[in-house]
Order: sequence, then C-alpha cells, then structure tokens
Amino acid sequence: MTKRVVLAYSGGLDTSVAIRWMIEEWGVEVVAVLVDVGQDVDGAESFEDIRSRALVAGAIDFVLVDARQEMAEEFCAKAIAANARYENKYPLVSALSRPVIVRHLVAQARRFNAQAVAHGCTGKGNDQVRFEVGTHALAPDLEVLAPARNWGMTRADSVDFAEKWEIPIKATKEKIYSIDENLWGRAIECGAIEDPWAAPPEEPYTLTRVTDREPVELTVSFHEGVPVALDGVAMKLADLIQDLNVRAGATGFGRLDMVENRRVGIKSREVYECPAALALIAAHADLEDLVLERDVHHEKGRLETRWSELVYDGMWFSPLKEALDAFIADTQRHVSGDVRLRFEAPGLLRIVGRRSPKALYDYGLATYDAADTFRHADSEGYVRIYGLGVKTWAQRQGAKNATPPSS
Ligand code: ARG
Repeated sequence: MTKRVVLAYSGGLDTSVAIRWMIEEWGVEVVAVLVDVGQDVDGAESFEDIRSRALVAGAIDFVLVDARQEMAEEFCAKAIAANARYENKYPLVSALSRPVIVRHLVAQARRFNAQAVAHGCTGKGNDQVRFEVGTHALAPDLEVLAPARNWGMTRADSVDFAEKWEIPIKATKEKIYSIDENLWGRAIECGAIEDPWAAPPEEPYTLTRVTDREPVELTVSFHEGVPVALDGVAMKLADLIQDLNVRAGATGFGRLDMVENRRVGIKSREVYECPAALALIAAHADLEDLVLERDVHHEKGRLETRWSELVYDGMWFSPLKEALDAFIADTQRHVSGDVRLRFEAPGLLRIVGRRSPKALYDYGLATYDAADTFRHADSEGYVRIYGLGVKTWAQRQGAKNATPPSS
C-alpha cells in the first residue's frame, strides 16, 4: 500500500517543492493542507492560486482550513492571559500558530487515513520541534516527515526543481527574507537581518509603517482576561486583533529587534512586527496590576516566564503547560475592566488609564487627603515586628557598611 502523507502546506517554494520531492524520492501520496491562521495579511495571493499550485505539484488533494477564530480564541487568548513574551520580548508569533496547524494536520491525517504528516522546516529552527513534538503529543502513532531536512538542496536548487516540474512559483533564486505571518504578527529573518550589528532595513515591514502621525487613543475592554471590545464596540477576538494591528501599526508601534535563543542551541537575530499582540499584552498586564492580589500576581509572573518557554519550545500539548493553563485560568476570573492606550508615532505606546469593577485599588486606603481611611497607628507595631530580625542582627553582629564613604 502506498504511504499517504498529510503535508502542512503554505503555498511557498519549499512546501510546493516538498510535494513533488516526496512523491519522487519516497514514493508517497501527498495531501496538502493549508491552515489559515490569518497569514494573508496583504492579500497577495488567492487561496485558489495556492490550491492549483499544490495540485500541479502532484498533491492528490488540497484542503483549506479556516482556523482564524480558533487561533484567536484559544491560542492568542491564552497567550494574552499569560502575558506571554519569550525572553521578555517576543510574543510567540510563530510558536502559537504551530500547535493550531498540528491539530488540523492530525485531524486531516485521520480523515485521509494517512500514516504520516510532513512539514517543510529545516533542521536549524524551532518550528520542526513544534511540529514534531506537537504531533507526537496528539498522535503518537503518526510518523513525521521532514523533506527539507533530507533533500540537501539550496534555494537555487529548489527553484530549478520547481521549474523542471513546472510548478508555478513566484520565488526567485535571490530570496531576501524568510517571513512567517499570522494574526498575531509577522516574524522576519535572513538577509541583512543576519548581521546583528546592522540596523534592520525598512522594506520587510508591512504592518508598522507610519501612516498616522496623530496620537491614537483607544480603550480595550477585557472580560475575565479576554479582550472583548475596542472603544466600546464588542468584537470577536480575531477581528479585534486584526483591527488593532491596523490602528496601532499605523502609528509605527509593534516592532521588535532581538537576538534570541532557539531551542536548538543557535542564537539568531530576528525582527518582528506585532502591534496588536504587544498592545494587548501590555493592556492586559496593566489591568492585572489593578485586580490581582499581590502574591498571586508575583507567582503568576514567575510562571508566565515558564509558560512562554514551554510554548516557544514546542510544548503546547504537554502536561506542564496544561497545568500552568489551569493556574492561569484561575487567576483570570477577576481580570475584567477597561484600559486606555495612547499611541504616538513613531512607535510609542503609553497606558494612560485603567478601571475595573473588580479593582483592588481602594481610594480610601491609597489617598493622602482627608478621605484617608487607613489606620496609621497600626503601622507602628507592624513595622517594628517586621524589622525585628534585622534589628537584632544589627545589635549583635553589626552591619558591615554602617559608615558612608568619606566625602
Ligand atoms: N524565531 C521565531 C520562532 O521560532 C520565528 C520563526 C519564524 N520563521 C520564519 N520563517 N521567519 O518562533
């Protein structure tokens, strides 16, 4: 029986070549699955063109899955709740889309009675890890194939291969950037970006070109940790993200330039543009400042770092990540309210106000004016006992640096 493979298909050069290459080299049947996670930011190509490319390349079938809402409501929403930023910067743009794609690949593999799934990743990146670990978590029986890790072709070789098989591709031999995009933003690698000293070129950015020089003020409303409205207008999360990408991006907000640690031991310089992701995480974190009890808030901060590492490392479907989800979900019960954002070109975001019916901010306790309700006298004994250990230590053993440097 001919082995059947379900390929995560993007429509680009590598996955188009992968279809024909796997047929020729491995004698398999290929079903191409394109998962729409909101990658069609600029509408450059129709899904119909992509479908016909897959079929010309030799796929026995092509499936388009619309996973935009799912990406937003399940994956971006959890990332917002976790204030997820890998290495305190990157909001996991590509890392979040891979488990969505994996879930659909596995579902299609079952539907088509396939024995394997395949991806077009090379051996140097994180995405191979995410595809493979994710697939094995959901379907330990499925094999995962990685043609691009085996074929040993350069980019120019791949273009020649596509020409030989008359696969209509737009790519040229001189590709400059490698770009991965979805609702949550755009990840840009290669070309001039590979020199970490060189300032990133303007040209690969599309979401964050400044077209609006006036300050933009927006209110984001949250319900139990999830953004539900922009300026009072209730929206589905996918639409809210898309809208915010446009409005915040127009002020130039949302760029990141970082050297990051890949799972496979490589440091790489990458740039990102993700206006909605960064703005929503900033707004959400600010609202948490207002509503979370101190110990919960501090502990959550430590676990957020771990959550982001796990998701970056391809562990979306893993017991620790799921256990952390349960903790985070519990903390979100009171994260409801509004946050005021002010964007100023180029690229500045300030949070200028926040409010919540669940706020732990108590005006009477906080104020220094006549409305003060705080019991000042209570502090005397509290502070004495709080500092008692240090005082005893100072009396018996002395502080080393009691004398200021002579001036
Ligand atoms: N370094 C990022 C990550 O591992 C982005 C990778 C995106 N891939 C790309 N072809 N630009 O999540």
